[in-house]
Parts: sequence; C-alpha cells; structure tokens
Amino acid sequence: MCGIVGYVGDREATEILVKGLKRLEYRGYDSAGVALINHGLVVQKGKGKVIALEKALKADGVKSNIGIGHTRWATHGEPNDVNSHPHLSESGKIAVVHNGIIENYNTLKKQLIERGRTFQSQTDTEIVAQLLEEIYTTSKGVNFEQAIRLALKQIVGTYGLAIMNEETPDRIFIARKGSPLLLGIGEDEMFIASDASPIVEYTNKVIYLDDGEMAIVTRDSYKVKTIDDYPLTKEVHELAISLDAIEKAGYPHFMLKEIFEQPRSIADCMRGRINPDTGKIVLGGIEDVIDELIHAKRIVIAACGTSWHSALVGEYLFEQLAKTPVEVEYASEFRYRDPLIGKGDVLLVISQSGETADTLAALREAKARGAMVLGICNVVGSTISRETDAGVFTHAGPEIGVASTKAFTAQVVVLIMMALELGQRKGILSQSEMNKYIKELSKIPSKVEYILEHTDEAIQKMASLFTYAPNFLYLGRSYNFPVALEGALKLKEISYIHAEGYPAAEMKHGPIALIDEMMPVVVIAATDHTNDKMISNIEEVKARKGRIISIMNDDNPEVEQLSEFHISIPTTADCFSPLLTVIPLQLLSYYIAVNRGCHVDQPRNLAKSVTVE
Ligand code: AGP
Repeated sequence: MCGIVGYVGDREATEILVKGLKRLEYRGYDSAGVALINHGLVVQKGKGKVIALEKALKADGVKSNIGIGHTRWATHGEPNDVNSHPHLSESGKIAVVHNGIIENYNTLKKQLIERGRTFQSQTDTEIVAQLLEEIYTTSKGVNFEQAIRLALKQIVGTYGLAIMNEETPDRIFIARKGSPLLLGIGEDEMFIASDASPIVEYTNKVIYLDDGEMAIVTRDSYKVKTIDDYPLTKEVHELAISLDAIEKAGYPHFMLKEIFEQPRSIADCMRGRINPDTGKIVLGGIEDVIDELIHAKRIVIAACGTSWHSALVGEYLFEQLAKTPVEVEYASEFRYRDPLIGKGDVLLVISQSGETADTLAALREAKARGAMVLGICNVVGSTISRETDAGVFTHAGPEIGVASTKAFTAQVVVLIMMALELGQRKGILSQSEMNKYIKELSKIPSKVEYILEHTDEAIQKMASLFTYAPNFLYLGRSYNFPVALEGALKLKEISYIHAEGYPAAEMKHGPIALIDEMMPVVVIAATDHTNDKMISNIEEVKARKGRIISIMNDDNPEVEQLSEFHISIPTTADCFSPLLTVIPLQLLSYYIAVNRGCHVDQPRNLAKSVTVE
C-alpha cells in the first residue's frame, strides 16, 4: 500500500506535504514525490525515502500553497525515479498520485497507445493521468471533473487518487475505491491523506471518503459526490486518538495491525489472479516460464525462517495438487552443500524482504549451476525479486513488525495459486476441481475475518494463563506440521519462551519425555485426513498430564472434550488450512509477549531483514 497527502490553503504546501509523507512512510518507502502548482505544475520525485525528497525540494526552493504527495510501496514497476509518483499526463498539465492496484491497466494502456499516447513508466498509475487527458482533450463539452468521472468508470481495481490540473490551480480532486482517503477540514485550508496521521496535528475534523465517491477540494470548500455525480452530505468526524496510535491505525503494535490486516492482504494477494466465476488462475509473473515449471524434474524451495515454513506448506501443495516432486531446503544449508542442482531443475526462493543474504546466495548458486530460479517476494524491486528469472509478488503491503505474519499467509496463498495452476496445466486437476478450490479460496479472507473477530478475546484470556510457562510444544500433521513450526517460532522470537514445533507422530520418538503438567501443548487438529491420528496424539499428551490447547475445526467434539482449552475455527480444504490455523497462533504469541512486557515489534537480537550471513 502507498501513502497519499494533499494540501490547499495559506501555508507553504511543501512543508506540510513532506511532513505528512514522513508520517505515512510505514505504508511504503520505495520512492516519494510531490506535485505543486506555481505558474504551472511542478513535480519533484524520485527513488528513496521522503528525506531524499525533502532535500531535493529544499534545493529547488519551489513555493506553493497547493500540492499533492505520495510515498510508494511498489506493486507494478520497480522502485525507481520514473516509476515514482506523481505521474503526469503527456502534456504535463495533469498530475496523479494513486494508492491501490488497477487490474485492467494493461488493456487500457494498449488502447491509449493505439490512440498515440506514449508512456514513461511501467506503473499501472500512469494510465490514470493519460486516460484523463485523453478524455478531457477529445470529449466535447466535458469539463475536467466530468472527465475524471468518465475515466474512473473505465478503471477496474482499487484506488485512492489525488489529482491536480494546472488549468484549475485552486483545487484538488480526490476519489476512492478500495483504498482509504480522508479529508481534513481546517480554517481556510484543507488536508488530504490516506489516514489521519498527516492531518491530526492541524485539525481533528475529518471526512472519510467511501468507495465510489469523489470530492472537489479548494481552500475554503469541498464538494463530495458519487462518481455518478450525485451530491452527498458527509458526516464530519472528530479525531480522538493520538498521532502515534494513528500510524498504527489505532493498534498498539504494528504486529497486531498486520495480524488484523490479513483478510485484506490475502484478498489483495488474490486480486486479479483468481476468478471464482471461470475457475481460472492468472499468474502473470510466471506465465512465460510455466512450461519449464510443468516439465521440471523437481522443484527445490529454499528460504529462511517463516518463509521456510511456508516453503514446507508448498511442498505438500505441489505434491498433492500438481504431483510435482519438491524438496525444501534451508537456504543457508543449500548454498554450502555443493548442491546437486542444474538444468531442468527449478529453484523457488521465498523471501518477504527480498534481501535475506542466505536466500540470495542460494539463488545465485542455483543460477550458476543452470537451474531456473523463481521467486515469491513481498517487496517489489528487492534484490531477490530482481535476480530471479520470474516470480510472483505477494502484495501483502509493508510488513513492519519483525515477526512475520501477513507475509506468511500471503506466501501460502501464492503457493496455493501456483500449485493449482500447475495442477490444471498438467491435467491433474479437472475444471470442476479447480472451480471447487477457487470458490473455497475466495472465501478465505472472510474466514480469517471470522477467526479474528471470534477468537481474539478467548486467546487473550488463554495467554494470561500461560504467560510465564517456561516451555511450549506445538504439534501438527501434514499441512499443519509447518504451522506447528511457525507457531513455535512466533512465540519464541517475540516472547523469548523456548518453544518447539514437531510433527505430532514424532513426539513418541523423544519429545514425549518432556510432557508433564508444566508443559502447554498446542495441538493443531484441523485437517480431516489426519484427525483420528491427532486424537491419539492428544490422548498420549493427556495421559502424561500435558496441558492441551487445541486449534480445531468447529465440529470436532472429540478433540474439544480432550482439550483443556480449544479454539474453534471454520473448516476449509485441508490444503488451505494453514491460512486459518496460523491465525490463533499469531494472536497467542502476540498476547503472551505483551503480557511479558516484550518489545513486540522489535524483539531483542532480531532484525526485520537478515542481510548478513
Ligand atoms: C519471522 O517472523 C522472522 N522475522 C524471520 O524468521 C524471517 O522470516 C526470516 O528472516 C526470513 O526473512 P525473509 O522472508 O525476508 O527472507
């Protein structure tokens, strides 16, 4: 996601825009830019953080009382100067900043090129500026506001937009569909932003734009309408929270915010890629290499930490859905083992940051030996994403908390989509199976929402009982064995409690000696085909007085009856269950860490991206 700001009033716009962008940098920090009106449109933008933009603006010394600004989280087009926002129309008279994803930008771009328009960037956003100018300059009797409405009707996807036209130097046009946008109402001045953090120091009176709405804003007026031109009277809200809280959108920590963002981040990851009506999957990033994938002798997946756990889920997925042999490797082990990999093999690397040194080294090692290398990354323009032959971005938005949460579920969603696509292309999955899987996959965001709404309180209570447990054991089978590992990692990295994840059946080969009345055992019993075995494992733990906490499907009375505590979650396809079973484990680790007074977002000894070996 990106950050948008705007200002019109008596004050120096540049200073307000830069300060506002700094407050929004948690939303994205690949590049930043502003557009001002001072005898025509003036744009200053470039790769890098807002501080670089601030220096450039100081050097330029441009003054203005009206402007828009943007800090970017790249989705289409790598972070560089030309892809940074604002984007201009060909004449340079219209400037646009955008937060969201335009799904039909390729189609619109082709149409505009056929009409003779030339483009500067690889972004989806630039088509908004160009489409606007095309409509405004070629449609008779259409004013600029009408041109905006006509353009928005052609756009499929999500947007928060702020637009300026040097022909109307006293106003800013804003529009919203799927990406937040607020209007702050001051005394003879107006503020625009993606959330309240850039606004709250100037005014506490805000209007929240809703989807399908636009507004025309001048220093002393605003008109809100639907994009069908129906005027609206919007309620003016009073902001009642502190600046610091707002940057976390009201959450006490980024980690909790990112846990609760997962319904949206999972939906964003699937947006434009799955179609429940046609039962089709579109993964543009690997389209050109799908044949190599289909004919690959095997897929080796290399990653670290949480990304290694999603890789383990990927192994089950590719082998079940696409019958493709998979091996999962710790990137750090793979790179030093003189790996037997070469032409005809595929190495898939998974990395949220796209900068993890061991994973990057594994990629280079495999490439040097002739393998094709694909990537699953969250950061567009990251080193790993630029060095792979092809890949799929997770579109989870910036993950600030050191403990990875929404990146994990987004990685699993990408792996599910890849395995389904491969299974269909190889003729292993019928269209009716694809329809079933894709229909269920489209329900996952609402099922995650349900879990967050209905289990959060119970988990907080449970966390208070186990805050000072010296150890934890996590058990899972099949798809949920990697989730047991992930749940243990979450707990240990933010609460500093020793925790182990184990395949449930392995417990009797040693760890069962650990079980006593002091040992909380988290059992993930949410996969149908292993349920009976899991019940036996739970009995074994109970017989040794272990304290059983079960993550189970709604309708599982046997497990419920055996458990001291249970968290019920909606059922889903076994191969999708990690997307649901991991949510309570993220919450459990978070609340225990908070109870222990740990620094949840920046745990001791850890970094968000391990760029050292
Ligand atoms: C997970 O919560 C940790 N922050 C850590 O294990 C992380 O997953 C690992 O360092 C890999 O990072 P990457 O996904 O950015 O490559």
